[in-house]
Amino acid sequence: MLGAALLALIGRSGGAEPAPSPVPYWAFAVNPPAPPASENAVPADERRRRVPDSDRAFSPAQVGDLYSAPDWHPDGHPSMPEVVARGRKPDVFACGYCHLPNGQGRPENSSLAGLPASYILAQVEDFRNGERGSSEPRHLPATLMGGVARKVSTTDLAEAARYFASLRPRAWIRVVETDAVAKTRVAGWMLVASGESGTEPIGERIIEMPVDLERTELRDDRSGFVAYVPVGSVGKGEVLVKTGGPGTTIACVGCHGPALQGLDAAPPLAGRSPSYIVRQLYDIQHGSRHGAGTRLMRAPVAKLSLADMVSIAAYLATLEP
Ligand code: HEC
Ligand code: HEC
Repeated sequence: MLGAALLALIGRSGGAEPAPSPVPYWAFAVNPPAPPASENAVPADERRRRVPDSDRAFSPAQVGDLYSAPDWHPDGHPSMPEVVARGRKPDVFACGYCHLPNGQGRPENSSLAGLPASYILAQVEDFRNGERGSSEPRHLPATLMGGVARKVSTTDLAEAARYFASLRPRAWIRVVETDAVAKTRVAGWMLVASGESGTEPIGERIIEMPVDLERTELRDDRSGFVAYVPVGSVGKGEVLVKTGGPGTTIACVGCHGPALQGLDAAPPLAGRSPSYIVRQLYDIQHGSRHGAGTRLMRAPVAKLSLADMVSIAAYLATLEP
């Protein structure tokens, strides 16, 4: 039997919470350790589930299969290449499982819809070479992306890049400025309501949550997100993005385009997950993302505070993608 002191030292006391980390935990949401399997666990309910506007039905086991992206709305996107729909066993998970069939992505990964194919190829190359990692080593989704990048074939990658580049991104994040937010916890690598009563101050955070947790858990690619952001952050972000502020940064519009919808090597930023945007700004600033393409981003991120990143991401999320 381990003593309480030793348990505390290895971070397992109580078993529920991961050890604190220096990164903004809400942008690098880490699942708590899974509870130990119980001997009298209730058998999983394997009934098939449905979502609105779809005639399909999938069981929870099907929804959990990383080699088969649940395709609730096949009419909502062109036909998926094999690697996007099913991946390649034994080591390339389906791109569309994580990034969703319509490429809208989720806070813990990234939207890919409408990114230039050349940018997609370059980023996967950076993941493969270890030039793109995560400032939070426990962020399993990023680790899995690295694994996919190392194993995917050139042909499959080219098809996936062409597919995602052909998709039109849709606005699906509603931004709400507020002083106080519901209490949250991490589940499925995202923030979800904890169910505790009362609210807490938002502080210097973005609380991005599914509009409909059940549909998001079923990986419905039409059910979006709401992002709670600090009061005043959208306006502050707009100034930084358009002018660079008083020596804080360099106007983002100069490279990412007047509508922040991307220009040349600079990818679109408008309407993308604010948790994702903060994670990237943080990773570039801290050197965990340092591919050749990020050279131009070093000066813009150098002096950004976490509050600046929050404001910038809040503003970008309000824009039409
Ligand atoms: C297990 C989930 C998972 C799978 C499967 C997956 N990805 Fe990713 N992908 C991620 C995560 C997580 C990130 C973001 C990492 C981060 O935040 O640092 C990402 C990021 C990316 C990016 C960077 C986007 C940007 O805006 O810079 C590209 C491109 C990408 N993935 C392409 C692919 C392709 C192509 C496939 C299939 C061959 C694929 N991914 C499969 C999880 C996944
Ligand atoms: C001098 C040109 C330049 C300026 C100014 C600039 N960027 Fe970038 N940005 C780039 C390029 C090029 C990339 C692609 C990096 C890569 O290839 O990895 C990029 C990538 C990014 C990414 C990663 C996107 C993704 O899909 O992962 C974010 C976020 C970003 N920029 C935000 C900003 C913000 C916010 C500003 C203003 C404060 C800004 N950028 C200013 C050139 C620029």
